Amino acid sequence: MSSNKQTLLDQIKADILSQNICPDLAEQATQLVFGDGNPDADMVFIGEAPGKNEDLQGIPFVGAAGKFLNEMLASISLKREDIYITNIVKYRPPNNRDPLPDEKAAFLPFLQSQLEVIQPKIVVTLGRHSMDSLLPGLQISQVHGQPKRYNGQVYLPLFHPAAALYNGGLRQTLLDDFAAIPTILAKIK
Ligand code: URA
Repeated sequence: MSSNKQTLLDQIKADILSQNICPDLAEQATQLVFGDGNPDADMVFIGEAPGKNEDLQGIPFVGAAGKFLNEMLASISLKREDIYITNIVKYRPPNNRDPLPDEKAAFLPFLQSQLEVIQPKIVVTLGRHSMDSLLPGLQISQVHGQPKRYNGQVYLPLFHPAAALYNGGLRQTLLDDFAAIPTILAKIK
């Protein structure tokens, strides 16, 4: 099953490259950062866009935000190999600027295809950009940590781990929201 899913994911990656999605971003980036982790995972985490380290290594969340994410996963006895992780925008925006609405829209169908292949129990959005792309019209400050069912998929909007690096108060909020994940997962049919 897993190898079949991996084959399908590889095809989505090849499609992004062959369809030349966001050529301006592609030109300035080192490489496409498609996704990483276990295609059979119950949980898919979705960030914003690759940063410098991710761009260089071709793997999402390997920099400072990724380190904190790994710590939060460990706090609920999970490892990176237990989840799948990707971003809404799959090339590093120049100077880490926010992804543009057009860029998010261009990559959305590919993100949706990734989710269709993996079929996770829950999609965890990290930060405002990935939440807005998948769960429009919500305020992260009001809904973080609350599971939301939308078009047949359960989502859990969380703050972005990078935000906690600048705002110490958010660090505990994120840890608290993470602590609730096992109970939330267990309740999903
Ligand atoms: N921040 C993100 O949103 N994604 C990454 O891959 C790294 C940092």
